[in-house]
Amino acid sequence: MNTIIEYQQLVEKVLSAKKYGSNPKELYEPINYIMSLGGKRLRPVLVFIGCDFFNGDLDKALNPAIAIELFHNFTLVHDDIMDKAPLRRNKPTVHEKWNDNIAILSGDAMIVCAYQELCKSDVSILPKLLEVFSDTAIKVCEGQQLDMNYETTQKVSIIQYVKMIELKTAVLLGGALKIGAIIGGASDGDAKQLYDFGKNIGLAFQLQDDILDVYADATKFGKQKGGDIIANKKTYLLLKAIELAEGNRYMKEELHQWINAPQFDAAEKVEAITNIYNFLNIRELARMEMKKYYDIAIALIENIKVDEMKKRNLISFADSLMLREV
Ligand code: IPE
Ligand code: IPE
Ligand code: MG
Ligand code: MG
Ligand code: MG
Repeated sequence: MNTIIEYQQLVEKVLSAKKYGSNPKELYEPINYIMSLGGKRLRPVLVFIGCDFFNGDLDKALNPAIAIELFHNFTLVHDDIMDKAPLRRNKPTVHEKWNDNIAILSGDAMIVCAYQELCKSDVSILPKLLEVFSDTAIKVCEGQQLDMNYETTQKVSIIQYVKMIELKTAVLLGGALKIGAIIGGASDGDAKQLYDFGKNIGLAFQLQDDILDVYADATKFGKQKGGDIIANKKTYLLLKAIELAEGNRYMKEELHQWINAPQFDAAEKVEAITNIYNFLNIRELARMEMKKYYDIAIALIENIKVDEMKKRNLISFADSLMLREV
């Protein structure tokens, strides 16, 4: 077993040695750019952890780990176009640095590169890996479409929100662990448990992402703060605020006006909505919701019969994600 830091170092070493082509440069430069900007590398680490859980050969997890990170970065490049985001990992987003068409096409190429990496796997497990990978990838697209639909939907329930973040974010964490587990030779039952663990940690992870979008320390965050508020993203924070403002006519009206304003000053909107969140204690409520999914995840992991040290390692990784600032 390796420590999380050792897995991260391994991922960084493998990724920094990779180059994804050079000609035409407009296609490949953005891929090399986004892949070299770092990030937490959480999903490839989960592939390694999943594999090691069942004493698998980590060498066999290398290409699938790269595939997952490529896929994740592809979703970010396209997500940043969709969210009109200017900053990613403290650097200009691909569509800002180049343009939308370049970001679309290099994103498309990244998903092809991801499949190429995955297809280097042993044929005995390749069909299973492809099934999990494709199932996960299509779900991410579904979640991203719901995320966009909800920007302009007035009434979104918390249940709909949770389903949306399950699809856009959580399944990829589950999928990364499951792919690792399959490479490690896990039984179907154990691979499923690990997937469900990852899915619930993923729900908690997206809740923390939504909290950070409003409350992160701007000097560390690396993304535009308040982007979710500006775009009327139906985050847990906004939905809970809408729910709680129901009993307060003044606040209900103020929220309604900001959400429906055709034109506004972005900084003013972010400040006004943040004030409402603060008044309603929304940050703490979102934290409690996050803890709910974290607890479900931890209970699931206890069901897997595996070395206690490995479980502790995974749990401490999950803990670090709950406390993250970026
Ligand atoms: C950002 O993912 C997109 C979400 C699903 C919230 P990460 O927070 O894992 O981004 P990087 O890879 O570390 O930059
Ligand atoms: C992104 O959710 C999920 C995917 C990229 C699939 P967000 O839009 O909240 O992610 P960030 O905040 O831009 O990283
Ligand atoms: Mg988004
Ligand atoms: Mg985004
Ligand atoms: Mg976000």
